[in-house]
Amino acid sequence: MKSRINSTVIILACVGTGLFLWLLLSVSRDTFPYVRMPSTRVESHETTAVPEQKLLTETPPAYIPNTVHYVYILANTSGDFNFAFSEVLSIYGTAQHLKPDTIYLHTNAPPAALERARSGEAGKYTRLLFQVPNLAIANVEVPTHTRNGKEIHAMEHKSDFVRVKALRDYGGVYLDFDVHPLRDLKPIRESGFAAVTGRQHGGEVNSGVFMNKPHCKLIEMWADGMHDAFDGQWSTHSNGAVTTISEQLVSEPGEVLIMERQAFAPGSWGQDDTVDLLQVHDGETSALDMMDPDGNLPIFETEKITRFSAIKKNPDFADWSRTYLLHAFNHNQRDFQVHGFDRITPRYILERKSNMARAVYPVARELYQQGLIAIDDPYKFNAE
Ligand SMILES: *[C@@H]1O[C@H](CO)[C@@H](O)[C@H](O)[C@H]1NC(C)=O
Repeated sequence: MKSRINSTVIILACVGTGLFLWLLLSVSRDTFPYVRMPSTRVESHETTAVPEQKLLTETPPAYIPNTVHYVYILANTSGDFNFAFSEVLSIYGTAQHLKPDTIYLHTNAPPAALERARSGEAGKYTRLLFQVPNLAIANVEVPTHTRNGKEIHAMEHKSDFVRVKALRDYGGVYLDFDVHPLRDLKPIRESGFAAVTGRQHGGEVNSGVFMNKPHCKLIEMWADGMHDAFDGQWSTHSNGAVTTISEQLVSEPGEVLIMERQAFAPGSWGQDDTVDLLQVHDGETSALDMMDPDGNLPIFETEKITRFSAIKKNPDFADWSRTYLLHAFNHNQRDFQVHGFDRITPRYILERKSNMARAVYPVARELYQQGLIAIDDPYKFNAE
């Protein structure tokens, strides 16, 4: 009898401790969704690439893993990262909407550059980007030649080879740094398809956004075929090859799902689309003017529609209902005059007067409320 009581007490104590720890963990996660706890910070800074052997022997996952992969190659490995606010918005949008198990940054940066990135020596945005929850650094070799000896000159093309190899080995979601998640991808990742790609302007599949299980047919064919396809042109080996492979494999049950353009890349690099995305609508009230006395910026809820007749489109603004990922193609944003727009700054997003700002405002708002950005921070620190 006595021993039974003792064991009951012990079990209760264990359950109690477990509950307490679980509560503690969930509370700290909810309170600090962005700022990493010190213990995990050390841990994830140590993380490097999963050994290839381990990846190959694992049984394939049932679904596309909830890991996200970015690639950033330093042209000069003695130099520094120099991330901009727009890139911080991309990775924190990933953290907020996708809640990935791990965000991998595949890079050739040596330990010294990584250290300067974490310490703040490479700018506030670079440090912020390196503080995103669950970040892991994966060291990569940057290819200089294709398998058949053709030289790969452009950094973008080197990145193409790195990303496809990474996604072949790890599986997960690949995102360019100008892609902004607007909602969770879980329903697509867990649709049962081994790979999901999306169309862009002009009808090709976009290689700036895709997701797949490790070693699935699409990624193996692409990783192999891009060496033969490479001809030095801008996108023969990337968009070109993945378009041909995606379309071919749709005929094989479960291999590839191709999403419509609006899903991943609604705009384009063209002038009209860029102006439409970025221009400021002067008549709108700035969200900054709606700040409450406690310094809280407003939250804008999306209205849930239950009846066809209730669907009303605002002709002045884009409707992001069909968009999971907004590929903003922002390497071209300075090519034309865009009314009211100069750069992607905290103020520009927090005012919430453009399609771009409306899309990523929830991410910028969270960063602001956490005290991680200031309204008048520039688009980039220590600019070139
Ligand atoms: C690489 O970066 C270092 C440090 O900023 C600089 O001193 C060096 O000149 C750079 N090299 C090239 C080739 O640009």
